[in-house]
Amino acid sequence: MPDTITITDDRTGKTVTVPIEGGVFSSSALRELDPTLYCYDPAYLSTASCKSAITYLDGDAGILRYRGYPIEQLAEKSTYLEVAYLLLNGELPTTEQLAQWTFDVTHHTFIHENMRKRFVDGFHYDAHPMGMFVSAIAALGTFYEGAKDVDDKEARDRQILRMIAKAPTIASMCYRFSVGLPFNQPNNELSYPANFLNMMWRIGEYEVDPILERAMDVLFILHADHEQNCGTTAMRVIGSSQADPYSSAAGAASALYGPLHGGANEQVVRMLAEIGSLENVPAFIESVKAGKGRLMGFGHRVYKNYDPRATIIKQTAYDVFAVTGKNPLLDIALALEEAALSDSYFIDRKLYPNVDFYSGLIYQAMGFPVDMFTVLFAIPRMTGWLAHWQELLDDPAQKISRPRQWYAGPDERDYIGITDR
Ligand code: CMC
Repeated sequence: MPDTITITDDRTGKTVTVPIEGGVFSSSALRELDPTLYCYDPAYLSTASCKSAITYLDGDAGILRYRGYPIEQLAEKSTYLEVAYLLLNGELPTTEQLAQWTFDVTHHTFIHENMRKRFVDGFHYDAHPMGMFVSAIAALGTFYEGAKDVDDKEARDRQILRMIAKAPTIASMCYRFSVGLPFNQPNNELSYPANFLNMMWRIGEYEVDPILERAMDVLFILHADHEQNCGTTAMRVIGSSQADPYSSAAGAASALYGPLHGGANEQVVRMLAEIGSLENVPAFIESVKAGKGRLMGFGHRVYKNYDPRATIIKQTAYDVFAVTGKNPLLDIALALEEAALSDSYFIDRKLYPNVDFYSGLIYQAMGFPVDMFTVLFAIPRMTGWLAHWQELLDDPAQKISRPRQWYAGPDERDYIGITDR
């Protein structure tokens, strides 16, 4: 069987044959046939917008790999900072490289005092932390000369370091502001996840539990990248105009905020609380099947099998509950999963739990308020966004993103004066 595809334009009889490589053929075939011919693909269901060497995902087989390494091995053996280095640089760091990278990240965690005093203090007392996070990331770029020097590799690396280092500081600051607590400064003695937990929770004496520190790190690893999802695509689209990475990441975080994307973890816990008890599970499943809302934390554009991240998160949940006590919503989640996975509505549509189905239960057991959940997703996803931004800028095939449209409005018509309408 030849690895080619032949397209014939029946209007002209013109034919073009192009290679299929890795399941993809180039749209240059269409341009060759007729440069005014476009492919209509709402929500990019059949469009690969870039070539990427960062994350491999096979949705039918439930496979996820960062730079070739299976997510299961990374979650078991690695740390978030090591994974961040891998995603950004393509290879796992040596001992020296990891020590330098950890030192650099640790020494860029502080933020300018005006970020908190003049910017964050201006929010309304009950502002949603994710709304604050999105705005704070954009504002952060205004503090750095060189943020706009996207063609300068050294300047670019400096921004990447800052953004990964400061994301937990900003996240915890948004939380502390929203509950009226004084802001905790970063502590350079602590690991990346322990520093974040310390900034979140310390009031007087506080010691980070090592099991919770590891669970946080595993959750960061699992959320670090997921190829061309809505947020990462936003990062690439904005970055393609050569906007600075802070503005681009603020756009990516805005996309993540939506309930169909990273906002789903928040919605899952709200849904479980609303279901309230085990006997309400069957009626809830029936209401979803009748089209009254969705089973949040289920389904995925790419996974048509169990999301491998959900499997790891489910295991991590038990480690966390051993420290914090079981989240009472867990039983409802398990019953919901069992009911859905044995129901033909969900089986036929290949709807399985995704990363958000169990993550919220862990976050809640660890004490995070529901409206912080998407911020917890955004902290590690910063690495994925920046790895893709870097790849985009180095890719000679990329240009400014500018899709075509299929115009469906009226033909030319004459202006009608207001008294004649
Ligand atoms: N509950 C009930 N039905 C669903 C669900 C769900 N969670 N997800 C999809 N369906 C149905 C949908 O109604 C449709 O049925 P039909 O063919 O009869 O019209 C079919 O399954 C296909 O759904 P779709 O909306 O065309 O699929 P999509 O690829 O556009 O959407 C999704 C993917 C993730 C937006 C969707 O599954 C969903 O809304 N899930 C709930 C929200 C959620 O958990 N999001 C987190 C995604 S994972 C983390 C991340 O990427 O941020």
